[in-house]
Amino acid sequence: MILVTIDIFDITNIDATINFIKINKPDLVIHAAAYTDVDGCESNIDQAYRVNALGARNIAVGCNYTDAAMVYISTDYVFDGQKGNSYTEFDATNPLSVYGKSKLEGENFVKRICDRHYIVRTSWLFGKNGRNFITTMLKLAETRDEISVVDDQVGSPTYTLDLAKAISQLIAKPTYGTFHITNSDYCSWYQFAKEIFEIAGKSKIRVNRISTEELNRPAPRPKYSVLNNYCWHLQGYDKIRSYKEALREYISTII
Ligand SMILES: NC(=O)c1ccc[n+]([C@@H]2O[C@H](COP(=O)([O-])OP(=O)(O)OC[C@H]3O[C@@H](n4cnc5c(N)ncnc54)[C@H](OP(=O)(O)O)[C@@H]3O)[C@@H](O)[C@H]2O)c1
Repeated sequence: MILVTIDIFDITNIDATINFIKINKPDLVIHAAAYTDVDGCESNIDQAYRVNALGARNIAVGCNYTDAAMVYISTDYVFDGQKGNSYTEFDATNPLSVYGKSKLEGENFVKRICDRHYIVRTSWLFGKNGRNFITTMLKLAETRDEISVVDDQVGSPTYTLDLAKAISQLIAKPTYGTFHITNSDYCSWYQFAKEIFEIAGKSKIRVNRISTEELNRPAPRPKYSVLNNYCWHLQGYDKIRSYKEALREYISTII
């Protein structure tokens, strides 16, 4: 297995991307790199499409040259959140933000260029390495006794460990196509924050509900973007555990 970062090659450089894939001849490439600053994408539109759409195209072209299979990590933000129910892989997409639109164009390039692809849409990731909502909440709790969190965006928090396990199951078989992979159950960011503080033994922190409008961020976000792991289920795989159990396990590793 070769782990690659932007220091090795930049996915927006098509020559460097293809060369790297040609030299290393992988059986499969897991493409997780992206411009993920959802609000930043609204003001850096070119960079969003350059990285999230054309970057995915470049990897797909490299995979196509070398006959490698490809996993593209995508997002619940390809949906508008208006359905009022969880989204299956067969629901129509309608991204609201530049981030969601550029990730969807990445999906489209991958579908068109690389026959042997798995598009894995996931949501609200937390896990080892890097910052996430949980580490942000716990950090804020060190200096504050009151935190305001939005209560009108609902999704499925997903532990990267469970996502990685699911991807390893998926790629063991040629079940190419689009899959929604999240932990089971769902919550609002507010409910998630409350659960985090409870598990971390910090339930004294007062969490205030606020609306998306009050938070006033540049990028529009779907109100209800819960993903239904429908193809995963149809394919006969076991239900992925609740985010609540995964959250307990993750928090026990960091505090
Ligand atoms: N986090 C979530 O809740 C979530 C939800 C759904 C889907 N996803 C998807 O999951 C994947 C991983 O997300 P994440 O949250 O782990 O994001 P992240 O922490 O921002 O990681 C993205 C990585 O991509 C790298 N990158 C950016 N531009 C690049 C370029 N031009 N060439 C090579 N590498 C580049 C970044 O490098 P630098 O650090 O040097 O910029 C960073 O290491 C992304 O595809 C994202 O769209 C995330």
